[in-house]
Amino acid sequence: MTSPMSDSLFTKQQVELRAKARELADTVMRPVAAKYDVEQTYPWEVQKAIKAAGLYGVWIPKEYGGMGGGVLDLCLVVEEFSRACGGMGVGYAVNALGSFPIIVGGTDEQKQRFLPGVAAGDHLISFGLSEKDAGSDAGSMGAKAVKDGDDYVLNGEKKWNTGGAVATLNTIFAVTNPDRGARGVSAFLVEKDMPGYRVGKHEDKMGIRCVPVVEIHLEDCRVPAANLLGGEEGRGFKHAMATLDRARPGVASQAVGLAQGALDLAMAYTGNRKQFGQSISAFQGIQWMLADMATQVEAARQLVHHAARVIDSGHKHITKVSAMCKLMATDVAMKVTTDAVQLFGGYGYCKDYPIEKYMRDAKITQIYEGTNQIQRLVIARALLREAAGAAP
Ligand code: CAA
Repeated sequence: MTSPMSDSLFTKQQVELRAKARELADTVMRPVAAKYDVEQTYPWEVQKAIKAAGLYGVWIPKEYGGMGGGVLDLCLVVEEFSRACGGMGVGYAVNALGSFPIIVGGTDEQKQRFLPGVAAGDHLISFGLSEKDAGSDAGSMGAKAVKDGDDYVLNGEKKWNTGGAVATLNTIFAVTNPDRGARGVSAFLVEKDMPGYRVGKHEDKMGIRCVPVVEIHLEDCRVPAANLLGGEEGRGFKHAMATLDRARPGVASQAVGLAQGALDLAMAYTGNRKQFGQSISAFQGIQWMLADMATQVEAARQLVHHAARVIDSGHKHITKVSAMCKLMATDVAMKVTTDAVQLFGGYGYCKDYPIEKYMRDAKITQIYEGTNQIQRLVIARALLREAAGAAP
């Protein structure tokens, strides 16, 4: 729980936004989190509630139908959702990941055409960068796009497309110039009804089970040239990187929400659970664990909020701080959710209690939107550039 003291660091709108998200999480998401985890189906009732609350517009500029909030506003909402269900948190946040390329690289016409639908919750949107053989090495992708008259024809396969099965719009990255490496990558706004676009295998996952993660097949998929992001070839990799810089704090706040949610449950459980004639929270060994968990959650949250504020300030160099908050918060989530399971003892290992789901949901945060090994690489490269006197 964010301490009342730190509320003074937020605007009145942000405090209200967080309260709205918390209420939705507690009343709509928490009661159905276990059901969708078991079924591994998409929670349309939750999507409708988020849409009705107007929260898909949080990160979208006002001139394109959104609320004009920034990354910090997005993070506040994602943390609250994830505190109730990590899958519902990312099912929401992936719409920011999918639409940030339009915000950072789209033409005004593309922004006018697509962003109002995302803001209204009419368009769900996902992000198609990774492939079977191009994960951490995103620049080595094999999907190709060839210009043909007024269209591009896309061929290839995308992997790990979070939300892809329910998305009506997908930001797909493909190579337009194979001789130029990462500089030959372009991004396309692909609509689900375009011929040659097909959703393939659904992954059977350890966690975040309510959000579909799928393969996308592009088989002579015809996309109008008007849907080439930014109207210019070769800018796609930079747009992907600039997007990840803005989206990684969203994953980090998913992690903070999961850690906070696990800590909340651990506090309640250790207060009620009696052994040796007293609540186990009366034992110093348990108190020290709780104290460490709470300290780690708060430290992670503050780094995420700092990163979000740096990004929202329009600062030029955001890559390092964005990677740092993703790295730290997601490692904290794994540690805190694992410790919470430990505090529940044998009950924590069983599905009668909601706690093991937090640990399962947390694991993916260390992997997607760049593994934590890639975050360390990104941070180290920035450090070395700074040490050499160059811009980070
Ligand atoms: N902003 C803007 N441009 C950037 C940039 C940034 N943050 N980082 C790199 N670039 C530019 C470079 O300046 C360079 O441009 P020039 O050629 O003009 O100089 C170009 O991009 C290539 O950069 P690098 O040489 O640094 O590229 P690299 O091949 O060494 O890889 C990497 C860099 C950081 C490892 C990158 O590949 C990466 O981030 N990998 C992880 C990918 C990732 O996060 N994937 C997750 C996808 S989303 C997901 O998980 C699924 C989901 O649905 C949730």
